[in-house]
Amino acid sequence: MPTIEALRARHPEIRDDFTIDQHWARYTRADHETWRTLYRRMEKVLPGRACDEFLNGLKALKIGDEQIPDMERLSDELYKLTRWRVVAVPSLVPDDIFFEHLANRRFPAGYFIRKPEQLDYIEEPDVFHDVFGHVPMLALPVFADYMEAYGKGGMRAQGLGMLPNLARLYWYTVEFGLIAKPEGLRLYGSGIASSRAESIYSVEDASPNRIHFDLERVMRTKYRIDDFQESYFVIDSFDELFGETYKDFGPLYARLQSGLTHEPGTILSTDRLHHRGTHRYQPGSHRASA
Ligand code: PHE
Ligand code: CO
Repeated sequence: MPTIEALRARHPEIRDDFTIDQHWARYTRADHETWRTLYRRMEKVLPGRACDEFLNGLKALKIGDEQIPDMERLSDELYKLTRWRVVAVPSLVPDDIFFEHLANRRFPAGYFIRKPEQLDYIEEPDVFHDVFGHVPMLALPVFADYMEAYGKGGMRAQGLGMLPNLARLYWYTVEFGLIAKPEGLRLYGSGIASSRAESIYSVEDASPNRIHFDLERVMRTKYRIDDFQESYFVIDSFDELFGETYKDFGPLYARLQSGLTHEPGTILSTDRLHHRGTHRYQPGSHRASA
């Protein structure tokens, strides 16, 4: 994570909260073209795989394929729905800054767009992952409230040294979450929603485990950042997710002081399985997209 001083060399106007001006006018035609390509690829695979809440958010916020969204205009639309705003940052921000933004209903989004040769994989979250992947769900009131609560919970977890556990919750819900709908499993996690290959893999491939969401189980489970997930956690509803998390984590944090930590692919006898993965794929043969 670069320090603010290091970032200041490239972004002299960076503020103490790590936000910068998006400088929308500076995007080139090629940048908008990259957005359009990414958007259209996802548009082909998301119907029937992404949940309606995600697709409705995309539509309601008018996040179109034509050009990289202007975060100010997008924020004005989002604010009307859930009182959230999107703010531009150079890239990943320190944890405490990130939590502070979320707790105040601001979503920090990377302003830059990946290069054409990075359509499938990028290490740092760019504007496509952050805006296309994350912002649609923020149009849903219960999810918007969950994200704010997560920000507040993050500050608390940091003080208690529980951040590694809480980060797993973010990973397996906000980034890689699945939801069970009457029509079948659907994705809502942004790390999936911004990746063409993982959008298909996460809901359809026989390889990964799909396990019903359990808060403590999730907080004990490590995750992979460099490949498709070996396990996805499935919620029944966003109300369930909010209900399970909008309570005092104190007793849970106490329990987490001891007991097991699970590998990403482990299945436990206590798991409620939607699907037992076959693990037939070779680790490393697929790469997840940020
Ligand atoms: N309930 C958590 C706590 O007591 C905060 C939190 C809410 C964390 C929702 C994540 C999501 O710390
Ligand atoms: Co993300």
